[in-house]
Amino acid sequence: MQRSKTGIQGLDKALNGGFPEGNLVLLSGGAGTGKSTMAMQYLVNGATLFGEKGLYISTEQNEEELQKAASQFGWRLVDLENKNLLKVVYFKVLEQDHFIQKVEELVQTFKPKRIVIDSLTTLTDFMMMSELQKDVGVSLIKIVDTVSPIPRTEQIVTKIILYNLVNKLKEFESTVLMTSELPEGSPRLSADGVTEFVTDGVILLGYLAVGATDFRSMRIRKMRYTDHEKGSLTYNLSPTGIDITAENNIL
Ligand SMILES: Nc1ncnc2c1ncn2[C@@H]1O[C@H](COP(=O)(O)OP(=O)(O)O)[C@@H](O)[C@H]1O
Ligand SMILES: [Mg+2]
Repeated sequence: MQRSKTGIQGLDKALNGGFPEGNLVLLSGGAGTGKSTMAMQYLVNGATLFGEKGLYISTEQNEEELQKAASQFGWRLVDLENKNLLKVVYFKVLEQDHFIQKVEELVQTFKPKRIVIDSLTTLTDFMMMSELQKDVGVSLIKIVDTVSPIPRTEQIVTKIILYNLVNKLKEFESTVLMTSELPEGSPRLSADGVTEFVTDGVILLGYLAVGATDFRSMRIRKMRYTDHEKGSLTYNLSPTGIDITAENNIL
């Protein structure tokens, strides 16, 4: 089986060598847990360590903000873009229509091995809003409303949007990381409670407060097509990015 290495030592070990190539993986966690950092690190490492092209689709931070964030960890995105190993694309969701077609065009011309969508939550929220305005969405609501209240309708529309998106992404044969915003203490694995079922993998990132000290820890909750570490991995946001700390007993 081909593996897509993250280049993050402890994580690759916990994944038995990396993500199974072609997997769609969700990074879920609260604000500031390091989802965007880990997603960018996956692309930066892919480019610098393995010469693999990465496409970063951002719906929250624009190119300049992402460059600023990346420079915190010593990553020079412009250099990688100049070498044609990285492409950062900022999608203003409010102005964006035909998202799936736009991604398809980008993938066909750039041919990335690795794709990041940051964040899936923003994207599907807006896709759902625009879908609800279309005829198909409205008729769908009419049908469902006769038997279910609104939240159920939203979940169905989210599910349809996700299936379309996921099926398209799977056609590309790239390994895909998508981020999902999770409120603290949420019992779900993704913001919508649906995504975790359609993706191949879920990594949960969170804080663990012990007394006055905060520990960051992540857990691989699901990873299809491979065995993996089931326990939690403590990590730091170090000057070089996500760093799985040596105190984990799997190392
Ligand atoms: N230079 C740095 N050194 C260590 N940690 C940093 C540095 N810069 C930012 N961080 C950490 O990174 C966090 C932001 O991570 P980010 O990946 O944007 O989180 P998320 O995408 O999950 O909201 C900040 O809250 C901060 O804790
Ligand atoms: Mg983020």
